[in-house]
Amino acid sequence: MKQKLLVLSLLTIFIFSNVSSSFAMDPQYTPKKLKPLPYAYDALEPYIDKETMVLHHDKHYKSYLDKFNEAIKGYPDLYSSSIYDLLTCLDCLPSEIYKTIKNNGGGVYNHEFFFDIMTPNQTTLSGNLKKAIIEDFGSFDNFKDAFKKASLNVFGSGWTWLVSNDSGNLSIITTANQDSPITLNLKPIIGIDLWEHAYYLSYKNNRASYIDKWFNIINWNKAEENYKNLAK
Ligand SMILES: [Fe+2]
Repeated sequence: MKQKLLVLSLLTIFIFSNVSSSFAMDPQYTPKKLKPLPYAYDALEPYIDKETMVLHHDKHYKSYLDKFNEAIKGYPDLYSSSIYDLLTCLDCLPSEIYKTIKNNGGGVYNHEFFFDIMTPNQTTLSGNLKKAIIEDFGSFDNFKDAFKKASLNVFGSGWTWLVSNDSGNLSIITTANQDSPITLNLKPIIGIDLWEHAYYLSYKNNRASYIDKWFNIINWNKAEENYKNLAK
């Protein structure tokens, strides 16, 4: 009987120590959290309605975030990487999660950028960014026309961006789906979400009107900051 008890005790210690060590070896994943809007849901009215912002932030953006967290969970080596790190080295990812991170990591990054580049407070284009826009496009109106034209030419769902290269030269690019300029080694300065979920409730199929109105809520202070922080 004594011998049986001893064997049982040793077995319990063995199992417990193995379970403990396996816990110690696998770090727990801390899911990336939803970033709150930097303004109230209705703050961008009449340009973007409250219901659109609620759905856009709480459903669409959240869905990208949830899928991103789910995909990363099985890869402890990636726990300490930021979404920026992952998107700027997509080829470093295990092939089985490449697409999921590209789409959903991109969805998170693009939406956090988009929500931050809008503001209910009127701001004006100034400083070095204004100078660079005029230098590279001839005038602000030329830039706006080119940005709108590019946005109208996006087939299906995607984005239009004003981006800078490392030397500070500006250009307008479009990306499909949730592809992000940072994967192309370009720094986004402003960007507009052209998925229908971003505008359909108010503008229906009138994308042109959405683009025109969106120019009233661009946070040019933030855009100038993005332009200054090219090294990030
Ligand atoms: Fe969106």
